[in-house]
Amino acid sequence: MVDLSVSLAGLELDNPVIPASGVFGYGQEYKDFYDINVLGSISVKGTTAEPRFGNPTPRIAECKEGMLNSVGLQNPGIAEVVGRCLPELKKIYRKKVILNVSGFSVDEYAYCAAAAEKADNVGIIEVNVSCPNVHDGGMAFGTKPENVLAVTRAVKKASTRPVFVKLSPNVTDITETALAAAEGGADGISLINTLVGMRIDLKTRRPVLAAKSGGFSGPAIFPIALRMVYQVFEAVKLPIMGIGGISSAEDVMEMMLAGATAVQVGAANLVSPTACRDIINDLPRVMKKYSVTKLSDIIGEAHK
Ligand code: FUM
Repeated sequence: MVDLSVSLAGLELDNPVIPASGVFGYGQEYKDFYDINVLGSISVKGTTAEPRFGNPTPRIAECKEGMLNSVGLQNPGIAEVVGRCLPELKKIYRKKVILNVSGFSVDEYAYCAAAAEKADNVGIIEVNVSCPNVHDGGMAFGTKPENVLAVTRAVKKASTRPVFVKLSPNVTDITETALAAAEGGADGISLINTLVGMRIDLKTRRPVLAAKSGGFSGPAIFPIALRMVYQVFEAVKLPIMGIGGISSAEDVMEMMLAGATAVQVGAANLVSPTACRDIINDLPRVMKKYSVTKLSDIIGEAHK
């Protein structure tokens, strides 16, 4: 018997595999494919104070080994998420979830976090200071350490839940924003969000995405995410959710060796809706292959 359980800032997870924010909505779309209760947790779509329609289409572009999105934080707003989406999710998923909150001001982040106090199935608040697809919000916060510090402090004050700050890779040194989050009182770090990229259509000779650029995700970014997780693990003594191009049980173990306590799987769910379940099912085989009986034992082992 192998042990897949991990403890994430006080939240006990059966296994470390979590669908990333933005690829799993509020859980409903996947329930017909498999019993989503196998998931360690779920990070729901980034939520703002007011409903948002998002960016104009096209807002998805396929690439080799990945994809670009410029969704623009489409979501029904925090009142609807707390009043309907999270209670609906509770009917089909019995574990605690991760509420990803975003905003255009420090107050908006804090407002969303405070509103989530009413939702008893929220186990962690994930502060999204790294969405690359909105002006004056998201990544505009996450690329400046002083903003990360201010948002983290405000959300910590507004929430009784553990707070993870989701960092942008679109910076020179990700340890600076990780340290700012730690100084602001973060209980953990999620990294990485997408890398800014673009495609141009040869026929129209114009950018494929209406927003011109978008966030690149998928297997191509895995080595970048892994390197950043490794760096952040050395810089701050906080639990990490590793995100970026994870698509196999081997990737999960590599991320954990770099320092992740749990992982979020993003684009792989859009290639195969059963990706997370398949990874969880395959973990025992890969653990046995590499003589691991307790998965949490390997967290950060690559640093020894
Ligand atoms: O555009 C989006 O909704 C993406 C958000 C994110 O990458 O955090």
